Amino acid sequence: MNYRHAFHAGNFADVFKHAIVARILLYLMRKETPLRYIDTHGGTGLYDLGDERAVRTGEWRGGIARILTASRPPEIEALLADWLAVVGAGDKEGRPAVYPGSPAVAQRMLRTQDRLTVCDLHDEDVRTLARKLGRDRRLKVIGIDGYTALKAYVPPVERRGLVLIDPPFEAADEFRRMGDAVAAAWQKWPTGTYALWYPVKDADVVDDFYEGLAEAGVTRLLRAELDVGRRDETSTKLSGCGLAIINPPHTLPAEIETLAPWFAQVMAQGRARWTCRWAVAETA
Ligand SMILES: C[S@@+](CC[C@H](N)C(=O)[O-])C[C@H]1O[C@@H](n2cnc3c(N)ncnc32)[C@H](O)[C@@H]1O
Repeated sequence: MNYRHAFHAGNFADVFKHAIVARILLYLMRKETPLRYIDTHGGTGLYDLGDERAVRTGEWRGGIARILTASRPPEIEALLADWLAVVGAGDKEGRPAVYPGSPAVAQRMLRTQDRLTVCDLHDEDVRTLARKLGRDRRLKVIGIDGYTALKAYVPPVERRGLVLIDPPFEAADEFRRMGDAVAAAWQKWPTGTYALWYPVKDADVVDDFYEGLAEAGVTRLLRAELDVGRRDETSTKLSGCGLAIINPPHTLPAEIETLAPWFAQVMAQGRARWTCRWAVAETA
């Protein structure tokens, strides 16, 4: 396990993921009843973009820095305001004081009645995560394999909430493991909302992943992707990523259709493109 999110924090893929996670949480918080947020691959929670690792890749410059320095039309501002309030203001280069990873976004947005379960397998990351998120009676940070956690922690007692699955994709069989784990979790908790992050390097592999979920019987499955059009794509510098979202809020497709073209324009590194469509129809 070599992956360290500190190299990639705040890049275009984080922006895409965190902005959408924030939209899902906001929708779930429209109801007063408590919700559970489960983050199976939590990372270290808060990222200093002045850290040597972030400086070395400079990936945040193509992501959050562009978002914070762009002029944002009102319809974009309306959809991003709550997430950007959590990120905080940027300096003149568009660098926030710290960039919040997914568990910190959720921690800062959720209410007193909500609960967070955040997992990571990497011992050092678990310690850093627990320290950075601090004492919070709503929160449990657990050093455990994210897929084992998923099996153990769904359905949550609240019976409503979001599961984020955001693996490092170092292992060749990560798509298969993620698909199998989610299909099993969905059997146990078919009404939960699940957001599954993945890199887009080979469209056929991604198609197979969605077909596998459909064959497992998963319904209401949305496919949202953003490709910033990098020409010098390498294994560490991505051009495209996606989120497979099971049971998205009914408002989410239209929100992504507003945000994604703007993200594609603002974070483009070449010919950027995006998509948002039902992989398994809402009515299936
Ligand atoms: C992409 S990062 C997570 C980023 C985080 N979700 C965010 O958006 O801020 C992936 C994390 O998964 C952890 N990890 C790797 N294999 C794991 C596993 N089997 N179970 C749980 N965590 C794992 C890594 O240590 C790394 O911190």
